[in-house]
Amino acid sequence: MPLTPGGYAFLGLTTLVACLVAVLTFAILRFASAARDARRGLQGSGHADTAILSAALQEAVAKLKAQERATAARAEASERLSGEIIASLTAGLLVVGLEGDIRILNPAGRRMLGLADNVTPADYHQALSEPELSKLIDQVLTSGVAIVRRAVSVPETRNGVSHFGVTISPMFDEQKQQHGAICLFTDLTAVKDLEEQLRLKESLATVGELTAGIAHEFRNGLATILGYSKLFDLKALPESYRAYVEGIRAETESLSQIVTNFLNFARPAQLMLTPVDLKAICERAADEIRADARALGGRVDVDGEFGILEGDEVLLRQAFSNLLRNALEACAAAPGGPHVVIQSEYDRAGKVTRVAVNDNGPGIAPVDRERVFRPFFTSKRSGTGLGLALVQKIIVFHNGRIVIGKSASGGASLQVSLPSSA
Ligand SMILES: Nc1ncnc2c1ncn2[C@@H]1O[C@H](COP(=O)(O)OP(=O)(O)O)[C@@H](O)[C@H]1O
Ligand SMILES: [Mg+2]
Repeated sequence: MPLTPGGYAFLGLTTLVACLVAVLTFAILRFASAARDARRGLQGSGHADTAILSAALQEAVAKLKAQERATAARAEASERLSGEIIASLTAGLLVVGLEGDIRILNPAGRRMLGLADNVTPADYHQALSEPELSKLIDQVLTSGVAIVRRAVSVPETRNGVSHFGVTISPMFDEQKQQHGAICLFTDLTAVKDLEEQLRLKESLATVGELTAGIAHEFRNGLATILGYSKLFDLKALPESYRAYVEGIRAETESLSQIVTNFLNFARPAQLMLTPVDLKAICERAADEIRADARALGGRVDVDGEFGILEGDEVLLRQAFSNLLRNALEACAAAPGGPHVVIQSEYDRAGKVTRVAVNDNGPGIAPVDRERVFRPFFTSKRSGTGLGLALVQKIIVFHNGRIVIGKSASGGASLQVSLPSSA
């Protein structure tokens, strides 16, 4: 049946609509597929960016960490180096704050100040029992002006140190504000000792030359007076005169004894050098006083290591004998009996023997520690005051030194150092 024009029109419209639907569906499908692709593509590139970013970040962090490690290592190395420098300094180093607090005190400083390794006093006034050294640091802290190479002597010798050379500088921060002081001290004991030895040797030699001649004349004169006084026959003299003659004899004898002692001391020292064992010398000197010490309920001990030296045996024996005799006399009345100890140590590195003659007597006051070596200084009624003068002379002529300290029991400690070998 032929279609009507309306039928044709409907058919045509239906075909058009069908074509349009097909085109639209195709277009939508394409679009969806494209969108999916695009989304997939977008997702992929985001991952890559994050990875790059995180890799860069990780690298930066690693670099920072490495830098930090290097800085820490450098800081540690420089701290270690400054620690080693401070520890190896042969000079004493003391750094203090304005409040007197100790910031640094190196081992050499501890040794010189007589402080144990594990003790660091809070305040330098406690560390430096020498008021002179404390005063110098106080001065720098208050004035801000440096003190350069000042010599300070220490009354109580510690570890054999008796003289310091001190340089104290104020410490400033970046704002030029003072916040402490650096104190460098060196041990001048050896230099001072050498000076002292030379001075003593020279003055002893001068005293010897000047006085030995006069003393000799005196002794001859005294011998003559004594000789004449002995010519008197006491029995032939009237009773009232006898006492005078006896007085002349006694006084002349005692004077000639003094002159003889003085001559012994003043006579220019001529050493007869042989190898001398200091231990044997000390043992013998101890034996000489042991019986007396025991009789008083006391004892005499010899302890430690001694060296051998090229010396004059007779003179050294005399020196130690004088020291021990003095020690026993000083502690004869000590409660619990006299106790004299010869304590010795041999310093291998320094090649020196240090012998201390210690007693439990009253000790020697710091003000007297130089005076007791002067000829005729005595506190004893029948003392000559020449014992220690002679000891010092003998020690000095053996290139040694003698100083006085305090023994553990509060008595005297006469410390002799003599160059020697093992
Ligand atoms: N171990 C000692 N303890 C206390 N004082 C001492 C000691 N050794 C010496 N002295 C003092 O030193 C002084 C001088 O001694 P020294 O020169 O030997 O002369 P002396 O023994 O004839 O008095 C003594 O008088 C004494 O005061
Ligand atoms: Mg004496």
